[in-house]
Amino acid sequence: MRDAEPVPVRLADYRPPAWLVDTVDLDVSLHPTATRVISRLALRRNPEGAADAPVVLDGDGLTLVRVALDGAPLAGGAYEATPQSLTLRAPTADRFVLEVETLVNPTANTRLMGLYRSSGNYCTQCEAEGFRRITYFPDRPDVLSVYTVRVEADRAEAPVLLSNGNLERNGPVADTGRHYTIWHDPWPKPAYLFALVGGNLSKVPDHFVTRSGRPIELGIYVEPGKESRASYAMDALKRSMRWDETAFGREYDLDVFNIVAVSDFNMGAMENKGLNIFNDKYVLASPETATDADYAGIESVIAHEYFHNWSGNRVTCRDWFQLCLKEGLTVFRDQEFSSDQRSRPVKRIADVRTLKAAQFTEDAGPLSHPVRPDTYREINNFYTATVYEKGAEVVRMLKTLLGEDGFRAGMDLYYDRHDGDAATIEDFLAAFAEATGRDLSHFALWYAQSGTPRVTATGAYDEAARSFRLDVRQETAPTSGQSEKKPVMLPLTLGLIGPDGADQPLTLGGSNMPHPVIEVTEAEQSFVFTGLDARPVLSLNRGFSAPINLSTNLSDEDLVFLAAHDADPFNRFDAMQGLALRLLKTGAAEGRLPDATPLVEAARRVLTDTTLDPAFKAQALALPGENEIAREIATDVNPDAVFTTRRALRAVLAEALAAPLGETYDALTTTSPYSPDAAAAGRRSLRNLALDYLTSGATSEAIARAQAQYGAADNMTDRFAALAVLSQHDTPARTEALADFYRRFVNDPLVIDKWLSLQAQIPEEGTLERVKALTLLPVFSMSNPNRVRSLVGAFAVGNPTQFHRASGEGHNFLVDVVLGLDATNPQVAARLLSAFKSFRQLEPARRASAERALQRVAVTPGLSADVADIAIRSLS
Ligand code: ARG
Ligand code: ZN
Repeated sequence: MRDAEPVPVRLADYRPPAWLVDTVDLDVSLHPTATRVISRLALRRNPEGAADAPVVLDGDGLTLVRVALDGAPLAGGAYEATPQSLTLRAPTADRFVLEVETLVNPTANTRLMGLYRSSGNYCTQCEAEGFRRITYFPDRPDVLSVYTVRVEADRAEAPVLLSNGNLERNGPVADTGRHYTIWHDPWPKPAYLFALVGGNLSKVPDHFVTRSGRPIELGIYVEPGKESRASYAMDALKRSMRWDETAFGREYDLDVFNIVAVSDFNMGAMENKGLNIFNDKYVLASPETATDADYAGIESVIAHEYFHNWSGNRVTCRDWFQLCLKEGLTVFRDQEFSSDQRSRPVKRIADVRTLKAAQFTEDAGPLSHPVRPDTYREINNFYTATVYEKGAEVVRMLKTLLGEDGFRAGMDLYYDRHDGDAATIEDFLAAFAEATGRDLSHFALWYAQSGTPRVTATGAYDEAARSFRLDVRQETAPTSGQSEKKPVMLPLTLGLIGPDGADQPLTLGGSNMPHPVIEVTEAEQSFVFTGLDARPVLSLNRGFSAPINLSTNLSDEDLVFLAAHDADPFNRFDAMQGLALRLLKTGAAEGRLPDATPLVEAARRVLTDTTLDPAFKAQALALPGENEIAREIATDVNPDAVFTTRRALRAVLAEALAAPLGETYDALTTTSPYSPDAAAAGRRSLRNLALDYLTSGATSEAIARAQAQYGAADNMTDRFAALAVLSQHDTPARTEALADFYRRFVNDPLVIDKWLSLQAQIPEEGTLERVKALTLLPVFSMSNPNRVRSLVGAFAVGNPTQFHRASGEGHNFLVDVVLGLDATNPQVAARLLSAFKSFRQLEPARRASAERALQRVAVTPGLSADVADIAIRSLS
């Protein structure tokens, strides 16, 4: 069934709910095609809601069986039911119990929202508006209720039956072969946090004792046979629970915490109270099947969902415009957790790479929107890099402004004051303002204004005055729906580095700066630092303290100096990237790479510096990706020119640094058994980066080395890195290795995803045909989101030269997939379509092709709200 024309929802139209639901009693009798849901809602008129408003409950594709009010069946004329809503016609008392029985078909649910089946198991996804696909309900996050859930199923089909909260009772249903469990969640929650699971699953058990001594039973449920692959996730869970106690003073609050891994899931995972449901990609790992990146991903998603128990569940969002209240904050929290568990600088570099690749790109194109949007047609399209990643950056800036203690005091006040509430961004900021006495009204603009500020910093040393003057200008270009922009508040962490490489003391306006942070609030502002005996080199926006596009008047020599000496590892990395980007931009524009000697020498120093962490070296030596280069070029981008230039620069580095790269590779070759810890992972990442450079010339010796690594690897990280290197060169070795990999892992869908995605990213003419052929393999399925993302998503986002082929075939292919998928899974279809988000930066012919492709979508009748929304906004 297709959706009707999407009607925009506006933040300005928010009204409190007219009716509240104090308790929800659900009785769900699972059946593959006719699951019976009986819901008993204790409704109460909201004194703060519109008086006299009738009871209107949301639905989505529901089949109503019966309605009863305070135990008495309601006659047909007393209510109006459609698949989309249930309205009570007659006036009612201010408090009553409504009983509603509906039927749903989980097997036919291909949208993977509401109650559906994955590998035969029953599971749910209710955020954002999936609960209304299970039963009629005021499906909005500011209606919080206490849930008691009885789940019943055929014992053979579903021996495991789970819901939120604590298990109260279970037992057989006499003479039926069926059984039931009853779950009670004492914490009031919005419907989007409801979850239910039924199936044949194995429990990996463990336990945790909170710091106040409460024992918690932990369980990770996986498909039978996969138990051993859940141990890393369990370890990450226990570390997350401890970390939230020490870092934020937050304990877990139920007797059980369960996680279920399912193989068909629209996103990463879901924080349902006490019953997180995960895409199995973020649970299952073994050294032979998962890479270091997979392990890191599991650690951060497990942490993310667990941390939502406070930032999202105990304090939830008043409405979906406030999504960043829980998502931005929780991403910030999971980033901090991973930083504490691993290397902080390396984690920061990786996070900023993600931010720039996903969010800066989004903000530079037609899908740009504020961290807190003020209107939407389809909320599922707002689970974006802006809400998540930029939302986390805003919280990070808050911490930079308020300091460690001020930030913690604000968080404590926020939790204490809003525990059990559905809160807003205003509530969040008010807690920090009150806890610290700071006026955050200007800072709040970060939530409302979209676009990435462009900041120009010009430094000048005055030898006579022994002073350094820093002029900062900021400007944000107009974005869709926002033509007027104001200056935002920028906390810029900085250092002034003396000729000896050491940070100089910072004296501003005659006094020493206690914190090395300047606060820029105006469009143009100057800062004069005094007491400097020699010309310093400016290191600005250390740690990427503000999410901005920064340009400075630093020379190439200054960047080389920073790459060697900056005390801030992020800016050392950034200086390397800056040098590379300057070369690549010129190279792509002029078709000829300028002299790369300064970068080569800086890279040599990083590579041979024995004091540096290998993981850091790997980040610093990795060239900016094609998409990042394109974003820097910003207009009339020719992806082929970007690709060619980047290849050329890689070859220059590889040739000049062949000796130290070879030594690095050999020195990091180890026989010790695989461990996913950060230090070992860092060594592998540097060794595999060296392999990539060393193979760039595709000499037979180099290909043989990659082949040898592929064959000898005892872990997926090294095997897959070798395969990735081989995949970049059209040789028989590639064909062999790809075939071997397929044979080894044909029964392991999560590993096959890697194989699909690698091939989708081969930057060669034949790739589109290859991708089309891969869609026909039995291991591929358009109904599994992971497969679709790995193949089609990777092609559209990770292969700019082929997706943006001048012929338009790449664009057409994506549109064909999107239109085909829209009928069954609009959310995934819309997500794929957003790969066009940066089409306006392309050169005219490719831009026109992308526009035609988007128009072909827009004019298709019967589109889902999800896809229609992305098409309309992309073209606006
Ligand atoms: N809240 C989930 C998270 O942890 C994501 C839910 C996404 N839902 C959606 N409809 N896209 O980030
Ligand atoms: Zn989240």
